[in-house]
Amino acid sequence: GKSGYPHFMLKEIHEQPESLRQTLHGRVEEMAGRVTLEEFDRGAFADIERVQFVSMGTSHHAAMYAAAQLTARGLTANTYMAGEYADCPAPIDDSTLVVAVTQSGETADTMNAIRRARDAGARTLAVTNVVGSSVTRECDESLFIRAGPEIGVAATKTFSSQVVALTLLGERIAEDSTGVQRAEMRSLLSGLSDLPGDVQQVLDESTAADVAEALYGCDAYFFLGRGPAHAVALEGALKFKEISYEHAEGFAASELKHGPLALVTDNTPVFGVITGEDDLKTISNLKEVQARGAPVVVVAPANLADKVEFADYLLPVPETHPEVAGVLANVQLQLVSYHAADQLGRPIDKPRNLAKSVTVE
Ligand code: M6R
Repeated sequence: GKSGYPHFMLKEIHEQPESLRQTLHGRVEEMAGRVTLEEFDRGAFADIERVQFVSMGTSHHAAMYAAAQLTARGLTANTYMAGEYADCPAPIDDSTLVVAVTQSGETADTMNAIRRARDAGARTLAVTNVVGSSVTRECDESLFIRAGPEIGVAATKTFSSQVVALTLLGERIAEDSTGVQRAEMRSLLSGLSDLPGDVQQVLDESTAADVAEALYGCDAYFFLGRGPAHAVALEGALKFKEISYEHAEGFAASELKHGPLALVTDNTPVFGVITGEDDLKTISNLKEVQARGAPVVVVAPANLADKVEFADYLLPVPETHPEVAGVLANVQLQLVSYHAADQLGRPIDKPRNLAKSVTVE
């Protein structure tokens, strides 16, 4: 049941501290600065230099987040919309790992992509929530995100657990192949260990319902970010459109002046996602849209509050490692989408035309 929540989506948003604890359980040795995944022996990824992610929807955004991290570790990481990859697979070689990211493990586009990769001789790995799902039978190896069952059509807790599981996988790949900076790894792992508690703090203190109440019913909603925050911006927009039926788009902050800025008016709120010192450049993009009259909502770590004072609305998240901050920012955006859809009276758990798992292309 819904355990007293009006919708499964809200219940699942609130389950994230626990689901993330399950995702992390037994996998992080914070003091040693090491990740242990029982599925993969040390050295299992020694000859991996390239990672190709295939996925759809929210899972695709989790993959984009992970690819940005892997790229920063010196690997070649690309994301492909699985439906596109199925029609036109990317070239692979002996050092390529193809990773299917799929909550359900049943998505037709993703299955087709992984079959094409396998037929071409690629090593394949499934990152999924469902033990025994089709994707686990099709891939050489599997990593489970352990988020627990998700009923709402809108993917929420599974996105958070996908990002965390992919971060752990990425650390294992990087450690085996390019090598990792132990101190940097410790700081990331400390951020991950704190994540369940930090998500709880966001859930306890969020003013997302007020932001949604102030801004629902506008012409369109835009979401901006760079690096992993770009993936969060895309995910924020997908969730918003999926359950509120309002027009929402996510953009790379750098793309703004190359077209999207023409859409901005005083009736198009813009959400800016900032994860740390490295993506503060997004602030100038947000000031640009604000100068055009757009209400600006900034989601940023609380320690950067003085840098984002200009925002019309601030949704702070606890200070943490920047690669973890995106997950916290996304929780704020989940709540904004939920409350906007609720204000509009939408059938939140079963949005029109959509199914939980898309098993036909
Ligand atoms: O089960 P999968 O993760 O493969 O599903 C992929 C998408 O269909 C899914 O994430 C979809 O975009 C969600 N409804 C988004 O909330």
